Amino acid sequence: MSEGKPITCTAAVAYEAGKPLTVEEIVVDPPKAHEVRIKVEYTAVCHTDAYTLSGVDPEGAFPSILGHEGAGVVESVGEGVTNVKAGDHVIALYTAECKECKFCKSGKTNLCGSVRATQGKGVMPDGTSRFHNKKGEDLLHFMGCSTFSQYTVVADVSVVAIDPKAPLDKTCLLGCGVTTGYGAAVKTADVQKGDTVAIFGAGTVGLSVVQGAHVRGASKIIVVDINDQKKQWSLDFGATDFVNPSKGLKDGQTIVDKLVEMTDGGLDFTFDCTGNTDVMRSALEACHKGWGQSIIIGVAAAGKEISTRPFQLVTGRVWKGSAFGGIKGRSEMGGLVSDYMDGKLKVDEFITHRRGFTDINSAFEDLHHGDCLRTVLDLSK
Ligand SMILES: NC(=O)c1ccc[n+]([C@@H]2O[C@H](COP(=O)([O-])OP(=O)(O)OC[C@H]3O[C@@H](n4cnc5c(N)ncnc54)[C@H](O)[C@@H]3O)[C@@H](O)[C@H]2O)c1
Ligand SMILES: [Zn+2]
Ligand SMILES: [Zn+2]
Repeated sequence: MSEGKPITCTAAVAYEAGKPLTVEEIVVDPPKAHEVRIKVEYTAVCHTDAYTLSGVDPEGAFPSILGHEGAGVVESVGEGVTNVKAGDHVIALYTAECKECKFCKSGKTNLCGSVRATQGKGVMPDGTSRFHNKKGEDLLHFMGCSTFSQYTVVADVSVVAIDPKAPLDKTCLLGCGVTTGYGAAVKTADVQKGDTVAIFGAGTVGLSVVQGAHVRGASKIIVVDINDQKKQWSLDFGATDFVNPSKGLKDGQTIVDKLVEMTDGGLDFTFDCTGNTDVMRSALEACHKGWGQSIIIGVAAAGKEISTRPFQLVTGRVWKGSAFGGIKGRSEMGGLVSDYMDGKLKVDEFITHRRGFTDINSAFEDLHHGDCLRTVLDLSK
């Protein structure tokens, strides 16, 4: 039994910004009170991991263990943990849910204040790390998850048990991308039957918004992407139209003009899934006067700001944002997993690549290719 003892295992360590990860043996301490040690079975690589590794994230700290789209099995739990037990199949949650803080109790948001400060600093709630390299140096945690390690330790508020029948090599995607986009459509925007919707950026997040809008019965689902390879995927996930703004516009026509023309005055909902602040402006301005809402999901580069003429808001357009799709991880993940198991939520379709864990640096390369939605890594290989 490994319970109560340190575990030596393989992890991919980010020692320095802009450098590949170092795959090496590390030591993972046992979980302290209100902590959970997870044997990570599968993890995908999300753009936020690449963003932090690139060094442009001002909050990125090194050396650290990245990864936040992962699923596995609980190995052991610390004192006082009641929500999961050894053997449970779980998904790590970068948006914690304590059910007790002001945010959790507000009924207005999925943000939770319980572990926010220490999570941002890359340490556990007691201010220390559970990861050490062979030289004895501490390695930082990341987004409260650190799934790029065969074993990880997370706070009990940052993990949810799921149906053990659900395949972990698929459900790991519910840890970020799929949930973020789908939730943004069905929760944050709460798209209704007949609504018109435009999605900028057809990666895993954008296509998940398409899926959510389709499930809700949106009458028009327009995908805007500069990569034509995204057209077929968009249609497969339920889009009704695809526009490539780098070639599908008439002389002098902007993407806003084009969308307004296609929808008799603008859209009920638009979503930015690119992280580009110019795209965010277009997304807002393509909304219908009086009621159109634009939801920002993309993470912009450090220091970037959004702008528009205030008149756009005075005349009734609404700008909002969404983190993790507005989904409360511990209360609502079970519903998403059962929708997936019932065939109502597509997840498998996002997996375009699979690799062994030690090939993780190639998975980061995959992200930059237009033919990749998600690469799933098998931590046993
Ligand atoms: N808010 C959250 O909780 C949350 C969670 C996960 C990811 N994100 C962010 O969401 C964004 C999308 O993530 P993803 O994994 O789907 O990324 P992705 O890179 O796979 O997809 C982005 C898509 O946008 C397209 N694109 C780029 N520039 C464009 C432009 N100017 N106009 C139209 N299309 C353009 C690309 O061709 C690509 O298809 C990222 O910024 C990511 O960091 C946010
Ligand atoms: Zn992510
Ligand atoms: Zn809370």
